[in-house]
Formats: sequence, structure tokens, C-alpha cells
Amino acid sequence: MYRDEALLREYYSSSPGDITLDDVDVNHLPSHVSIIMDGNGRWAQARGLDRSKGHVAGVDALRETVTTSVRLGLDALSVYAFSTENWRRPQREVDLLMHLFATTLVKELPLFHQENVRLRFLGDLEALPKKTYDVFCQGLDETADHTGMTFALAVNYGSRAEMTRAARLIAQEVSAGALSIDDVDESAIASRLYTAGLPDPELLIRTSGELRLSNYLLWQLAYTEFYVTDMMWPDFDRWEMLRAIRAFQGRNRRFGGVVNQ
Ligand code: FPP
Repeated sequence: MYRDEALLREYYSSSPGDITLDDVDVNHLPSHVSIIMDGNGRWAQARGLDRSKGHVAGVDALRETVTTSVRLGLDALSVYAFSTENWRRPQREVDLLMHLFATTLVKELPLFHQENVRLRFLGDLEALPKKTYDVFCQGLDETADHTGMTFALAVNYGSRAEMTRAARLIAQEVSAGALSIDDVDESAIASRLYTAGLPDPELLIRTSGELRLSNYLLWQLAYTEFYVTDMMWPDFDRWEMLRAIRAFQGRNRRFGGVVNQ
């Protein structure tokens, strides 16, 4: 993906001390980074604030992360914003999140236009409140022709539901005679997941120190490198992204085989 080297240098000009842009090889970046944004509630509670303030601060961290990903020239950034299990949260918090998704998307559309970012959604959008659903459709529409980074928001997403849906689609096609059982292979499944056409993430970041996948991209993360940070999501910034990439570049990726013998 296109990268403006001068803009990137300027973006990373004031180092916090432990890391600089020169600590990563910008020619070998992961093409798709995915993030489980966790810890908004705890970030707020630690400051004596309502959990909702943590989600609002989380939006700022997400805006910076989109910009960082564009500056670095990633092909894709995906984030887990709302799971199929998150409906179990208090109704007030669910309402606030749905409202925040809608208002943020409208507010950030100019950024997506300016940075040529193409939006995608992972998950079952039909179950969302109408306002949120409509704004998401508008976002999809307005960015469909953009050719820069893909930004995929997982909303009402659950990996098991996604795979169950793919199995049903395949079963329907087989029973209608449109697909032969011999053609049901890994690519037939991958092309019926919400992520169809996106490369698998090479790096998964999870904030707030939890060591769980939480029903996120179980198929797509088969060979992904993980980076878990104790940082709460609202504190995540361009520098933590760089630390994650530095850790990723220090790994020896074998994909089940043997390298460097
Ligand atoms: C986790 O914190 C975060 C979420 C439930 C997702 C919400 C994400 C945002 C509001 C930022 C992105 C916004 C948009 C517009 C996509 P948590 O509530 O699970 O924190 P906790 O584990 O400390 O309770």
C-alpha cells in the first residue's frame, strides 16, 4: 500500500524514549493488523469516571490507530468493536455504544475520504438499531470506491456465528445443486466468511492484558502472531503500535514448517 515516507517520519518524530521508527523495518510490515480493543471500562473506573467515558476515550484511540495504520501503509486494519455476546451488557451501555458507533462514523467520514480509506463491516448488521444500520450503509456506500487501506469494523460479530452462517450458505448451495461437495474446500469456506477477500491478519493485538480470543476471527487467526499489552485501549497510541510491530518482526514465523535450518 502507498506510503508517504516524509509524512511517516514527521508523524513519528517525537519519540517517547524507548522506541523510534528506526526500530522497525517499514518494508516488512504486517499487511493486516487486527485489534481486540479491551479495557475502556477499567480505564474509566480507574479514573473515577463512568464506563461511558472510557468508550468515548476509546474512539480517540481508534482515530489515532486508523491514522497510524494509513501512515504506515498497511493494507488492512480490523478492530473488534462489538461482539455477539456484548448484547448482554446493561441496556444503557449497549444503547450508548450503538449511538457512539453511528455518531463516530458520520464524524469520521471526512477522514476516510481524505485518507482514501475503504470501510467494511464484519458481523450481522441486520440486528443493529436502524439509525446505526443506516449510517453503516452510508459509510459503505461513500467509501466503496476508495482504493487505500481497508478498515474493517467487527460489530455484532462472533466467529462461531460467522462459521455457522458459512456452513448454512454452503449447505443451501449444495442442496440447490449450485455447488458440488467436492468443491467444498478451505477457500469455499473462507469466501463465505465476513472477511471474504481480506488477507488473514498477520498480527493480532489485544489490549488490557487478557489472554483470550473471545470468539474473534477463529478461522482467520490460524497463523497470526499475537501481541498482548497491559495498556488499556484508550491509552493505545502510535507508539504502542510500533512496539507491537517490533515484537512481530522479532518472531520467527514458520507456518507449521521449518525455516532457518
Ligand atoms: C472494550 O472495553 C471495548 C468495547 C466494548 C468496544 C467499544 C469500542 C469503542 C467505543 C472504541 C471504538 C468505537 C467505534 C466508533 C468503533 P470494555 O468495555 O470491554 O472494557 P472493560 O473490559 O474494562 O470492561
